[in-house]
Amino acid sequence: YAVSGGLLIAAYLLGSLPTGYLAGRWLKGIDIREQGSGSTGATNVLRTLGKGPAAMVLLIDMLKGIGAIALVYALYTFAPTPLLPATWQPWLVAGTALGALLGHSKSIWLSFRGGKSVATSIGVLLAMSVPVALGTVAVFGVFLAFSRIVSLSSIAGAIAVTLLMILLKQPLPYLLFAIAGGIYVIWLHRGNIERLLAGTEPQLGQKLQQE
Ligand code: G3P
Repeated sequence: YAVSGGLLIAAYLLGSLPTGYLAGRWLKGIDIREQGSGSTGATNVLRTLGKGPAAMVLLIDMLKGIGAIALVYALYTFAPTPLLPATWQPWLVAGTALGALLGHSKSIWLSFRGGKSVATSIGVLLAMSVPVALGTVAVFGVFLAFSRIVSLSSIAGAIAVTLLMILLKQPLPYLLFAIAGGIYVIWLHRGNIERLLAGTEPQLGQKLQQE
């Protein structure tokens, strides 16, 4: 249990790495939490700092998700004696995935604020199941192409993950992760949902009207 707990904490800490915040500090000397949507995710970095920094933040935030799950695989592969039962592996993958999402959006370094865990979700999905990850990105892409609104596309992707897990017959822990993670990511978008309903949510690259 101590080893499993350590894995979950390590995944949370990895997710906590405040990429978008550091980009704002280093490149412009600003606190990105006071800009645009207040999120530290790649979408708000795009709005505030431009394409290059946004691409970097997107990539690193995805790698945080992949890295969190890689910790589980590394432990099973390289531990000299089996430290954990084999049947726990998919549960630990699902748990560390949630830990990384939580860390990204409630970072220990940012007074428990952060991003909306979309990029990190794509990272953990890539490590869990490439077909599910690609399917999710496809749904996200279709919504983005038609609406040009990242938040709406993220919410559509968050719902699609559960359906894809069922369609592609993924293990139960992954399905439960998709449901819990999907609800969590949608909840993180509650401010966006209010703006979507009010018709004030900005399209890709546009500034937010106020805040
Ligand atoms: O990736 C987060 C995106 O869905 C919304 O970001 O900054 O527009 O709230 P933002």
